[in-house]
Amino acid sequence: MRIVSTLKELAQLLSECTKNKSLGLIPTMGALHTGHIALVKKAIDENDLSICSIFVNPTQFNNPSDLEKYPNPLEKDLLLLEQAGCDFVFAPTKEEVYPEGYVSKDFVFGTLDKGMEGANRPGHFKGVAMVVSRLFELIKPQKAYFGEKDFQQLAIIQSMVKQAPFPVEIVPCSIVREASGLAMSSRNMRLNKLQLTAAPRVYQRLFKASKMCSSHSIFEIKTWLKNEFKNDVDLDLEYFEISNPTTLQATTNWSECDRHIACIAVFAGEIRLIDNIMLEIN
Ligand code: PAF
Repeated sequence: MRIVSTLKELAQLLSECTKNKSLGLIPTMGALHTGHIALVKKAIDENDLSICSIFVNPTQFNNPSDLEKYPNPLEKDLLLLEQAGCDFVFAPTKEEVYPEGYVSKDFVFGTLDKGMEGANRPGHFKGVAMVVSRLFELIKPQKAYFGEKDFQQLAIIQSMVKQAPFPVEIVPCSIVREASGLAMSSRNMRLNKLQLTAAPRVYQRLFKASKMCSSHSIFEIKTWLKNEFKNDVDLDLEYFEISNPTTLQATTNWSECDRHIACIAVFAGEIRLIDNIMLEIN
């Protein structure tokens, strides 16, 4: 596995190795878990070569303490990538990614960035688009792999790719869960024992909500779920939204579309967890 950290090394690596070969990119912020490794394995299967980027992108953190405490176990990450069979790793510094005077393209996301993460994390998606577009410019992959846990981020990146346009196929990858149902996330590493016992209730409630959709209205499900969290001393609900999966606009009636996406953000102490589930209406 070749590891590069400067733009010069990256350019050299790409010109030496990727001629007439398909390249799959897995953009990450490190602190890798089984969910990331599933993305890496898919990229290996679907491309001649795979490259994983590890960069804790400061421009997408609206909360300085979240950035400061973001786990960064580089040695362990490199070992996991090597074991998975990843070909290349790009682990740059902030100065390499954003040299002085660097100006990012501006993207317009319409309804996609107005609610949920967009509303609760001001500037977050601008930062995500900034770093992902930069990685696409530098690496020029044929395919790029993103987890569906960040459902809104996926929609933003798909829109960004169309706007630029970037000749890259975005490959959505299913959420990987712990046996308890908890969606895998780098932030789970920061949960203490009590929070780890409480956190699976996020998915358990989402799952129950998905089973209620044939017999309950959207309003009833939202009311039920909010009450569950009101009575839960370990978890604080930030938002629970049921939306059109294409526009990400909140829906109020099941007849508005065939499928709805239910998205949730919850705090366990100061650790923010997100998750989602597709609601199939038949
Ligand atoms: O999902 C993430 O880990 C990050 O938002 C991404 C896509 C790597 C951009 O920093």
